[in-house]
Amino acid sequence: MSQTSCLSVILAAGEGTRMKSAMPKVLHAIAGLPMVAHVVKAAEAAGATGLALVIGHGAEEMRKAAQKFAPKAETFVQEVRLGTAHAVLAAREAISKGYDDILVMFGDTPLIDAGALAAARQKLAEGAAVAVIGFRPPNPTGYGRLIEKGGQLVAIREEKDCSEAEKKIGFCNAGMMAVAGKHALRLLDKVGNDNAKGEFYLTDIVEIAGAEGLDVVATEAEFENALGINNRAELAEAEGIWQARRRREAMLAGVTLIAPETVYFSHDTEIGADTIVEPNVWFGPGVKIATGATIHAFSHLTGATIGENSEVGPFARLRPGADLRKRAKVGNFCEVKQSTVEEGAKVNHLTYIGDARVGAGANIGAGTITCNYDGYSKFFTDIGEGAFIGSNSSLVAPVSIGKGGYIASGSVITESVPDDALAFGRARQKTLPGKGKELRERFASVAAARKKAAE
Ligand code: UD1
Ligand code: MG
Repeated sequence: MSQTSCLSVILAAGEGTRMKSAMPKVLHAIAGLPMVAHVVKAAEAAGATGLALVIGHGAEEMRKAAQKFAPKAETFVQEVRLGTAHAVLAAREAISKGYDDILVMFGDTPLIDAGALAAARQKLAEGAAVAVIGFRPPNPTGYGRLIEKGGQLVAIREEKDCSEAEKKIGFCNAGMMAVAGKHALRLLDKVGNDNAKGEFYLTDIVEIAGAEGLDVVATEAEFENALGINNRAELAEAEGIWQARRRREAMLAGVTLIAPETVYFSHDTEIGADTIVEPNVWFGPGVKIATGATIHAFSHLTGATIGENSEVGPFARLRPGADLRKRAKVGNFCEVKQSTVEEGAKVNHLTYIGDARVGAGANIGAGTITCNYDGYSKFFTDIGEGAFIGSNSSLVAPVSIGKGGYIASGSVITESVPDDALAFGRARQKTLPGKGKELRERFASVAAARKKAAE
């Protein structure tokens, strides 16, 4: 099948009013990726070689977003929404390029899996002209019903056009179908709008193809795969299903999740075997974790790369560009951004490392801050291999600490420190014997005099 060409036509012109959003419905994200981008991924995994995105509402925003998640997609604007067949025909120019298969998909059905699409394409390979993806929703109300006879799909009846008997059918149209490219335009052009809604229904091509004596069949997908999103409650439901699938996949690939239901993945999280993830961890987009790492509880990671056997958290925040090498450690209440923490280096407590390199084996004391920003520009801090930064130090960038450099705690370091040097950047300590007692007595007598005067 991989040799056959396939155009995926993704319908996404609808307004999605029930989302109550300024943003087009299909741009709302699941696992950090617009739902329509999930649909694109599924289409590509099912072998789509061309992508046509039919847009309407929020066309400009959609076009811009599509450049990111589907740069190769052609976009077609459906100016007025006259029904699903009319929407598919908005992509006439792409369809007429002569693809073997046309896969019609909905932009608001993000959990569709490549397997269900491939199964429908397989039916085309076996000679069907149309293969409709069906499913059995717990409540079929509102869906088009699939009417079968002798292994053939003879019609799809929309709820509003159903007889009482037809309403009892539980096998429904999930919305997606595969159509043989050589028949697609002819069938679509025959669709009329003589129905309860006065719309051009894509589903009518089933009867039209049947009347031409063509082979029309239905395949069956899991209900979850065909879940359509219309409001934010359904969006959260789809997110939940997506997360549950991803957690299971991670665990089966050798990742320990102690409380899986509290760990959130992004669409692109990569995580190696023998990594342990404690409860309540958030992986934002762009996280890559090698094998054998430990991510302690309540850590928040985005755009971070974590090396083998390294340790993060608890309560760590790794922001984009955080790059932890083998056996590095970033501990509690630490934030790392756009910085490399080299092999075996430790950033253990209450620290901010931004725009920096922490050399291999260096130790960053509690409360260290890289002062990387002057309100206008960002500057770099370079900390050499094996350096020791005493607690509560501020490293004012641009600045470098040489290999094996030693910074006295409480220092404000504004000038670079050579290899193996010791730097103090704080006022020298003065100790006055007996002065503490003297002060205490003086303050006590002042307070006593004040109390007496008030009586
Ligand atoms: C459609 C199916 C129905 C199926 C159901 C599954 C038709 C006629 N009916 O009904 O059999 O059970 O999906 O969810 O196909 N769209 C456009 N332009 C239009 C009309 C629709 O782009 O002019 C897009 C919508 O944005 C949406 C998709 O097509 O992504 C489906 O349209 P919708 O109105 O939701 O169809 P349903 O009535 O749900
Ligand atoms: Mg719908």
